[in-house]
Amino acid sequence: MDISVVGAAGTIGRQIAIALVQARIPGPEGRLQLIGRRGGASERVLFGLASDLRDAHGEELPELDLALDPAEVRADVVILAAGATVSGEPGGPRTRGELIHHNRPLAEQVATAMAANGSGAELLLVLTNPVEALVETAAAVLGPRRVVGLGAVLDTMRFRQEIADELGVRRQRVTGLVLGEHGLGMVPCWSTVSVHGLGPDGGRERIARLRRPAPFATVVDGMHELDAVMRRDGIAAAYRMVEACDAGWRTVLRPYVTQFSGARTPVGSAATIARVLAVLAQGGQLLTAAQVRLDGSWLGLDGTTGAPVVLSRTGIERIAPVDLAADEVAALGSGRGVAALGATPPAGQVPGRSWLILCTMLRQDRPGMLARLSRVFAERGLSLDGLVAGPRHGRPTVLAACHADDALRDLLIGRLRRDPDVAEVRAEPADGRPPWSLLDGAVPATGGGGGW
Ligand SMILES: NC(=O)c1ccc[n+]([C@@H]2O[C@H](COP(=O)([O-])OP(=O)(O)OC[C@H]3O[C@@H](n4cnc5c(N)ncnc54)[C@H](O)[C@@H]3O)[C@@H](O)[C@H]2O)c1
Repeated sequence: MDISVVGAAGTIGRQIAIALVQARIPGPEGRLQLIGRRGGASERVLFGLASDLRDAHGEELPELDLALDPAEVRADVVILAAGATVSGEPGGPRTRGELIHHNRPLAEQVATAMAANGSGAELLLVLTNPVEALVETAAAVLGPRRVVGLGAVLDTMRFRQEIADELGVRRQRVTGLVLGEHGLGMVPCWSTVSVHGLGPDGGRERIARLRRPAPFATVVDGMHELDAVMRRDGIAAAYRMVEACDAGWRTVLRPYVTQFSGARTPVGSAATIARVLAVLAQGGQLLTAAQVRLDGSWLGLDGTTGAPVVLSRTGIERIAPVDLAADEVAALGSGRGVAALGATPPAGQVPGRSWLILCTMLRQDRPGMLARLSRVFAERGLSLDGLVAGPRHGRPTVLAACHADDALRDLLIGRLRRDPDVAEVRAEPADGRPPWSLLDGAVPATGGGGGW
């Protein structure tokens, strides 16, 4: 099987080339085409990479074919990994959607060259973002069966890892799919998760307990909060905020932080692609999530999105039948992604304990202040067991009672500390005390001031 990497001089393209050679895909008898751009850094890096690969892997290296124009693409499987990327530069693109104007012409050029140079059986794997738009463009040239977006493959790998981490098992024991858009609209489908060795039903109950209330009202809200935390408190604090979310939200938010850490995600992405190609190269089939052009026959969706597919060396064999929960189907249609998933477990099943959150305020009774603070809890799906305002040790104070685990409690404290009216925040275990009992002059028999 010959493979071509378009964009082999870029961050992800280079890592893919390395991962493929290390995995012997294709083997020494095959051909690996590395395509860069004529002139400048891309051309220089391409020749340098080829030289370095020879030094590292002379024993098993496939034939390396270097090209400087995407129009020269020729291979059984082509990986599109070139193009503009989301950057941390001021004013640079911050979402995948913003890349479309630069990257769509490239997808069209590569698909057109494949149609002109090939036999009609070649496969295009799209990694460049926004993956849905580029799959749509290329599928219009090559047909929907031969164009596969890899965004959902990467998201699925991340979701499985998040669950594996939490359960303390290896990822190979965890199955599960992330469907929908590779970006703001991705839907981690909890109903598809099962863990080998966790009982006959794949650990359904234990998996259900991993779900937590939504930490943000929308994915964009989460990204804005992470941006603010990264700027103010640094990258470690942003990762701590991600840790407070459940595996579904972590799947969406952790790569966002990684993208802006400077490391980006080339290693995980390339390793996942190498695993997919190892199966296809041996003539195998793979049940995975991938971005494909749909015709309305799956969930009534017409357009390109992440769907469950059976993939082979020649393309999409069929859409795989998967039973999804009602909230997942609704989320796939809504475009709100993980934020549209309902089903938070009832309070009794939420891990954690009851807390009193004490906010010492800069001033008492500012209009709208209490409503704003209570929204911090509501946006994370938490219902307040009580909220009171009054003096404590002579200082204006707001006290909230809620049920949360340690991570969620820390997330709330971090968020409340950023409120402009809040001077100081800390949490104490409630231990059966109602919030008003901590205010100055509280008289248990008659209740305390201002609660609802
Ligand atoms: N880096 C990652 O971890 C990662 C992971 C998954 C997906 N992606 C996606 O892959 C794409 C590339 O990301 P990157 O991080 O490698 O970026 P990069 O800037 O490091 O590399 C991009 C490469 O594409 C080439 N290129 C750009 N425009 C081109 C054009 N019109 N014709 C031919 N070549 C062109 C550049 O010369 C460069 O070599 C992006 O769309 C990104 O969203 C990146």
